[in-house]
Formats: sequence, structure tokens, C-alpha cells
Amino acid sequence: MAILDGKALAKKIRASIKKEVDSLKKESIIPGLAFILVGDNPASQVYVNMKTKACEEVGIYSINHRMPSEISERELIEVIKMLNDNPMVDGILVQLPLPKHLNEEKIIETIDYRKDVDGFHPYNMGRLARGNPLFISCTPYGIMKLLNEYSIDVKGRDVVVVGAGNITGKPMALMLTNSGATVQICHIYTQNLKEKTKRADIVISAVGKPNLITEDMVKEGAVVVDVGISRVKDRVVGDVDFEGVSKKASYITPVPGGVGPMTIAMLLYNTLQSVKFRK
Ligand code: GUN
Repeated sequence: MAILDGKALAKKIRASIKKEVDSLKKESIIPGLAFILVGDNPASQVYVNMKTKACEEVGIYSINHRMPSEISERELIEVIKMLNDNPMVDGILVQLPLPKHLNEEKIIETIDYRKDVDGFHPYNMGRLARGNPLFISCTPYGIMKLLNEYSIDVKGRDVVVVGAGNITGKPMALMLTNSGATVQICHIYTQNLKEKTKRADIVISAVGKPNLITEDMVKEGAVVVDVGISRVKDRVVGDVDFEGVSKKASYITPVPGGVGPMTIAMLLYNTLQSVKFRK
């Protein structure tokens, strides 16, 4: 068994981004990323803080808009439109989830797709579905980079993606399909999950349920990617029972230190791409 070391690869990617940002600065170009955080969800606060810090480290200028949970949809839309029109802003990120009274679809569609560094806009999801992506959601993008780093070719392989969310599961399945994998998406209504995962060459779990994937559910030599993040007592754990599954897997991502750091690295990468697209 070998570890897919997302932490190490993310560090490499950040270093190369920093170099590019430094050379852009010589042309007086400073990449800018705007964060919008609505309400006081503690996990969202942690994520936005981590992303802000990552920007600082590579020299990307960040703007933080923190708004009370009672903000109206109209007010939030006004802020996004202002950022759309601001030439200093290359990327706009609205941290999800949003409070219930805000229509997430409407908010995401307000973001200029050319600044949608999260890749959540229907235009960007559509481009990915057509196999001609512009911005790709950071988590699945990071997973593809991680597999590539370890020369794991997905072409012709059977892949099971557990979780059908818009942030990871669905774009992940599209990326894998575009790369020639045979993909099955499993979700909450899936019957006999084990029967499906057991046949897969690669299992990617993005659910957020500790111990969802156990040793008996994976075949010998499978590649296992764990996207789950849950807090159990004081520990952060993934969807995969690491101890059990690592006995059978050829490659496995740890939690923490696997997919998480890659997500943040790809956000910086997408922001740099946005600068390049604009130039
Ligand atoms: N909430 C959970 N993951 C993400 C993410 O990658 N981007 C944003 N904007 N919100 C999230």
C-alpha cells in the first residue's frame, strides 16, 4: 500500500504558482480573489481562513466579504455584481452552504462565469460535461492531479464515485468519463453499495460519513480516494476506515493530508488561470 500524498503535491503546486505570481508582479499584475462568507458556520469560517492564508502565501491578493446570515438575496447579489465589475478581482468564491433563505442557484448564476474559480456556475459545469472545460471544481480537479502524479491512469478502469453532489461527485464523474474511465455514481438511494465498490478499480468517496467504506467493500489492489471530512470527538476523519482499507488498497489518500490540501492548491491554480484567460 502506498499513500497518495496530497499534502506534498499541494506544496509543490503552491510553489510553482508562487513563481508565476512573482513573475506576473514584474508586469504589475496582481491576481485577486474575493471570498464571500455569509453567516457564522464554524466549518465555513475555518475553510475561508485556510484559503485566505493560502492566497497570502503565494502572493494572491484576497478580499474578504463577511456578511451577516440575515443578509437579503438582493444585497448579496449586489455585492457579487460589484465584484464582477471590479477589474482587480480575478476570482469570486461564495462559500457554501448558504443560509436557507438564499437561493443558491440564483447566487451562483450571478457570478461572472469568467471569475467562477470554484467551477460551480452552470456554464462551467456545462463546459465540463461537454468535455471542453473552462473552470473545474477544485476538489475533483485536485483528485485528477493527484492520480496523475502517481501515474494512475483511469482510462478503461472501473471507477465508483460515492456521493452525487455538485461540488465533488458529479464533476468528478464527468472528469473521469472525459478521461476514458467507466464510471458509476452511487448515492443515498443506491442498493447494495458494497456489490458496486467491490468491483471497482478505483473508489472515490465524497459523502461525509465516517466508516462508510470498510475493508470488505474494496477489492485487493484498488485505489481508494477519501474526500469525506467529519469530526469525530476531536479528530478529523474521512469516509474510509483507513486502517482496514489500507491493508487491501494499492494506493490510498489519508484524511487529513490527502484531498483537502489539493482542493486549496487548485483554487489558487484556477485563480491564476483566470488571470491568464483575461490577459
Ligand atoms: N463548501 C464546501 N466545499 C466548498 C468549495 O470547494 N467551495 C465553496 N465555495 N464552498 C464549499
